[in-house]
Amino acid sequence: LVLILDYGSQYTHLITRRIRSLSVFSLCISGTSSLKSITDLNPKVVILSGGPHSVHTPDSPSFPAGFVEWAEANGVFVLGVCYGLQLIVQRLGGEVRVGEKQEYGRSEIEVAINSGLFGSKKVGDKQVVWMSHGDEVAKLPDGSRPWRGASRDRWLQLKVRLGGSMGCNTTRSAGWSMENVLDEEIKVIKSTVGTEDHVICALSGGVDSTVAATLVHKAIGDRLHCIFVDNGLLRYKEKERVMETFERDLHLPVTCVDATDQFLSELKGVVDPEKKRKIIGKEFISIFDAFAHDLEQKLGRKPSYLVQGTLYPDVIESCPPPGSGRTHSHTIKSHHNVGGLPKDMKLKLIEPLKLLFKGMSVLIIDLSIFSRRIKVRQLGRILDVPQGFLKRHPFPGPGLAVRVLGDVTTGNALDVLRQVDEIFIQSIKDAGLYDEIWQAFAVFLPVRSVGVQGDQRTHSHVVALRAVTSQDGMTADWYYFEHKFLDDVSRKICNSVRGVNRVVLDITSKPPSTIEWE
Ligand code: XMP
Repeated sequence: LVLILDYGSQYTHLITRRIRSLSVFSLCISGTSSLKSITDLNPKVVILSGGPHSVHTPDSPSFPAGFVEWAEANGVFVLGVCYGLQLIVQRLGGEVRVGEKQEYGRSEIEVAINSGLFGSKKVGDKQVVWMSHGDEVAKLPDGSRPWRGASRDRWLQLKVRLGGSMGCNTTRSAGWSMENVLDEEIKVIKSTVGTEDHVICALSGGVDSTVAATLVHKAIGDRLHCIFVDNGLLRYKEKERVMETFERDLHLPVTCVDATDQFLSELKGVVDPEKKRKIIGKEFISIFDAFAHDLEQKLGRKPSYLVQGTLYPDVIESCPPPGSGRTHSHTIKSHHNVGGLPKDMKLKLIEPLKLLFKGMSVLIIDLSIFSRRIKVRQLGRILDVPQGFLKRHPFPGPGLAVRVLGDVTTGNALDVLRQVDEIFIQSIKDAGLYDEIWQAFAVFLPVRSVGVQGDQRTHSHVVALRAVTSQDGMTADWYYFEHKFLDDVSRKICNSVRGVNRVVLDITSKPPSTIEWE
């Protein structure tokens, strides 16, 4: 095991991922973890990540007392990167000082090829790296020697007293695979929940919560109780489709609650997108609360745990680093996440994907939602979640409420939108384009336009089609359909959806637009 102690750098998970990609099992835990939690994991290598702190700041995070002694006594290799390096140097009696110049951006370093750090791997003697540091090592601790030098004699990396090669051959742990991790995860869930407690889970119909629930179900069977809420904002036949997957394919115990009236009556007359989202979040919580209460009556005991399909990128999105520009995603997550449950429910969280992914090298520094889909799919495949389900495009928590612009309860807007969306998506599937498009959907516009249908003047609805390619949902480009495809779809929509006489295509990228229209 390679253990990464996280001090908050933005690339900590890139390290974890890189190591995993070498088929070496790696885990990432807080840099301030106790000595026991570190030693219990019995790592062969510990990497101290970088971070935004300075060792000179009072209360800056650090490894626990006794860590270095334990590493030395057990022949554990320790690698410090940036802040991690400075921490080791300071703790071992070297000197870290505020650099005369801060160094940000591209820099070239010289690499001592036979240093041992890279094992037998061939690397050029010069490497371009991206620097981001203010402090620097002025004096090495006694008994240490430099391995690599940077321009201007700055020590970049250093092996402190702990001897030996860190080449990955020594750490390649045999047989690490997704299956092993899953087995491990199931064991952890079993021992966490024990033999008596009950667990609840809100299924959204999305891949993450489905895979999380399936994993927990494998671990504790029908002591898992899932709820799926039809909020009246779902796509065409969505409820039937997802319930079929839950029940027929995955044998998940799911209670389906029809809360259409409750949601739509609260949304009546509301046009502000953020207000819509808040209302939807609140209604979800009240339904969930009632579900837990009913369960308590039935079982004679309160459910103790709540499963969430949180992935590591969600965690990052919920607390974006300053200046990352990810405040928008922060907003996204706060609305549909059932984490905001009433306090008196006192549920403990089980987040199997978060645990799994947090320590997994598959995690990605750019937090790509695209990659995340791939990895959850991989998990899903092992758990027998049907392929078609795993490949579904993302669907926002507030559902069609953010695709009917303005008041969602106006006329038959939701109904019209469902039909248009279904035709569009089905046409995309028929044309074999579904997998190359990141997300596609229709939008109902709160305007009418004049048309002529069957020799009659009409004053009907306008719908927009949106299809994007993206890596992570943070930026996106509109998808270039063939004209013939668009022509067919537009014709099909106007011919079969009553009340629509105009179809427009959204040809804006993100930025300046967002993917959703609200
Ligand atoms: P935007 O519109 O912000 O969307 O470019 C980026 C991705 O996030 C999805 N999205 C949401 N997902 N709750 C969600 O669960 C939301 O409130 C929400 N708003 C947008 C959107 O579908 C796209 O995949």
